[in-house]
Amino acid sequence: MLSKILNDLDEIQAKFETDSRDIDDNKLLENLRVKYLGRKSALTDMFKYMGQLPNDQKPILGQKLNVLKNLIQDRLDHIKQDLKVKTQKIEIDLSLPGQDVFRGKIHPIMQILDEIKEFFVGLGFTIEIGREAENDFYNFEALNIPPDHPSRDMQDTFYLHNELLLRTHTSPVQIRTMEKQQPPIRMLAPGRCFRKDTPDATHSPMFHQVEGLVVDKNTSFAELKGILLAFARFMFGSETKIRFRPSFFPFTEPSAEVDIWWENKNTGAGNWLEILGCGMVDPAVFDAVNYDSELYSGYAFGMGIERIAMLKYQIADIRVFYNNDIRFLTQF
Ligand code: DAH
Repeated sequence: MLSKILNDLDEIQAKFETDSRDIDDNKLLENLRVKYLGRKSALTDMFKYMGQLPNDQKPILGQKLNVLKNLIQDRLDHIKQDLKVKTQKIEIDLSLPGQDVFRGKIHPIMQILDEIKEFFVGLGFTIEIGREAENDFYNFEALNIPPDHPSRDMQDTFYLHNELLLRTHTSPVQIRTMEKQQPPIRMLAPGRCFRKDTPDATHSPMFHQVEGLVVDKNTSFAELKGILLAFARFMFGSETKIRFRPSFFPFTEPSAEVDIWWENKNTGAGNWLEILGCGMVDPAVFDAVNYDSELYSGYAFGMGIERIAMLKYQIADIRVFYNNDIRFLTQF
């Protein structure tokens, strides 16, 4: 009888070895435990023979039973540990905040420029790119700025060699565009400008402007006003109020500066803040490009992009645009 029992135990062990091979979750593991170590298991059942065997055979069976029971228990413990490690690996807490991927951003100046372009391109304006290194003719003379005008002074203009200078405004692009093309013209010219200014909260030796020019047979100051009002409302909100203040520029006549009404919503206090210069193209400018000023009229405007950005975002110091401080730049 003993050898038959030992044989059965070997079979149980062989079967257990097959059954325990592909256990990949805790439920299967528990089923396996019940099947081999549970009260109704074949192994537990074998313990009943302990009472039936002769005394000298009992230790043999006892030892065999214990060895097999421990082997099964060990193996179950092992599988349990393995499962724990495995599930730990794939346990992902989906509610945890993700890690931010750092993406580059469009510089606030370029964002404002994109908005300005969007508005005017929608009205049929083309984008013209001029030159940063200009000569006296385009930057001054053709724009009706006389030789003794203070802006030509060494104090204001960066002069390069070979009669070149760094343009002090984007207005020379008006001249270049009119030279290469006949009316009608509707152009927008964005770009860098340079002036010999000492940097402070409102001055930078390099800054950006956008120039606008319209030339056609029947332009009017009223049309200019309408376009600039729509622009101010596009940029600063649909309730924005503007005013035209008489001014002077050598290349426009009449000339005006445009202010927007800037109001503190809480106190109601406010003031007029300048956003751009504009006017009707002076006939002397048309003469410089051989346009017939009896036939054509036009209007022009120019604005500082930094200035618009500072107003829109309430920034007090122009230098923050160029410091490359990521804490500032990522706010836009
Ligand atoms: N060029 C002027 C400046 O730098 C700005 C300006 C004023 C441009 C009036 C214009 C204009 O086209 O009509 O300060």
